[in-house]
Amino acid sequence: MKVSKNVWLLVFLVAAALALAGCGGGSKDCSPNCTYKDMVVGFLQTGSEGGWRAANTASFKETATQLGINLKFYDSQNDLAKQVAGFRQFIQDKEVNVIVLAALETTGWDDVLKEAQAAGKTVVLEDRRIDAPDNLYATYIGSDFAEEGRKSADEICKLLEGSASKNVWMLIGNVGSSAAKDRGQGFKEKMGACGITITKEQTANWSITEGKQVTEAWLKETKDVQAIFAQNDEMGLGAIEALKEAGLKPGVDVFVLSVDATAGAFKAMLAGELNVTVECNPLLAPQVYEAALKALNGESLPKWVPSQEGVFRSTDPNLQEITDSRKY
Ligand code: AHR
Repeated sequence: MKVSKNVWLLVFLVAAALALAGCGGGSKDCSPNCTYKDMVVGFLQTGSEGGWRAANTASFKETATQLGINLKFYDSQNDLAKQVAGFRQFIQDKEVNVIVLAALETTGWDDVLKEAQAAGKTVVLEDRRIDAPDNLYATYIGSDFAEEGRKSADEICKLLEGSASKNVWMLIGNVGSSAAKDRGQGFKEKMGACGITITKEQTANWSITEGKQVTEAWLKETKDVQAIFAQNDEMGLGAIEALKEAGLKPGVDVFVLSVDATAGAFKAMLAGELNVTVECNPLLAPQVYEAALKALNGESLPKWVPSQEGVFRSTDPNLQEITDSRKY
């Protein structure tokens, strides 16, 4: 069958018009009328270090399914080199029009961000802030980690009111991360107000096993500690185990505060072993996807949208009710 030149010309013109209109799946050219179904998101997760992270990952996967977003998930396995390589993979991926980054470290992102910008990708930071010029990404959606540190200091001050000694041990997360840096800085800003001294501090890399090991080693040196500030729940739960094995009553002999407000922390508070958990909200996906869509459609966004977060105490009379209503 012969096809006339005019028909081929027509086919060519229609294809060109469709390409210009950005009707190809995942193309950024859908702007300013992109919908969630046009979004192909490359999500660079830090890893799977604990309950908070599992809830954060689930939020991104479930919300993508609900909204019809095509999500390409990359597990960086808590390895910065892998995360940077994954970032470059998404830059090369022609389908991907949005890159969401939960950065393992605050520094070292300028080059890949410039490459992403040159390739026309929309970049949204979730959970972790970075030290890079803010014209290289659309927005950052995540917690005020410094405020979490300040709240933690205030709570430990209340617990230690009237105590002659106020020696506190701090279990630090991954030292290069914004969560660890800012929580530590916020805590130190406020602790002087009630006379707290940090007598020991060390990283336990967000891990329950390391939280236990570090606390065990410290307890072998001294038992002169009145409170432990663990920068996440897992490390706090590890510290609780170490205290119990050393014959001390966590929550009574030594106060314990951690950050995140995961199910594990609520269980420990109901058992009276954890005194306080300061909330860090992991359910960020709806806000992140909404912001990415706006950015794809050419809207400019505030450079930081902080999450709303609370504080939960073992003394709360409604603790069981609150525990039952939690999503993670
Ligand atoms: O960035 C948030 C922190 O990362 C959480 O507090 C910690 O549990 C996680 O892994």
